[in-house]
Amino acid sequence: MKDMILKILPEIKEIRDDILKGQVIACWEEAINFRGWTEDLLMSMPFTLLAENVKITFIDHVRAVCRMCMACDDVLKDIHGQRRTPVNRDYLIAGALLADVGKLCEFEIVAGKPVKSDYGKHIRHPFSGVGLAFKHGVPSEVMHIIATHSKEGAGEKRLPESIIFHHADFIDFELVK
Ligand SMILES: [Fe+2]
Repeated sequence: MKDMILKILPEIKEIRDDILKGQVIACWEEAINFRGWTEDLLMSMPFTLLAENVKITFIDHVRAVCRMCMACDDVLKDIHGQRRTPVNRDYLIAGALLADVGKLCEFEIVAGKPVKSDYGKHIRHPFSGVGLAFKHGVPSEVMHIIATHSKEGAGEKRLPESIIFHHADFIDFELVK
């Protein structure tokens, strides 16, 4: 299972802290087991069921947004140097990789296809994501990114890592919806 998770999400290897890396993998493992996702199903799951004809897959969305976050951090470091607002890169990457992990609980598999479940209507993925993260000891700074990344975080004071993730996420979302 760990190998499959690292194969579909190679960006996990960019997390320097081994404990945090293990926590991210553990959250994905639990979410995959919750509904019995297979590698094939995961790879074909659409990015969103909110819009029609979306060709981008869920996993590619997670990866693209994680890469955009790292690229953003690189640019801010290159240009602003010491004057930049400090960003914890490990927290940024972990948050980017966990923000949508709860979607694996939000969706149900019916007749071999992912569909939105009542569970997902009751507990949107920022909540199930934080639940999974809490269980696996993920630091509060990373849970903050999961909790505040979507509309649930509107009006909240976001940490720098959450600001970067939120904007990168909406770039991908708004361009494909
Ligand atoms: Fe999300």
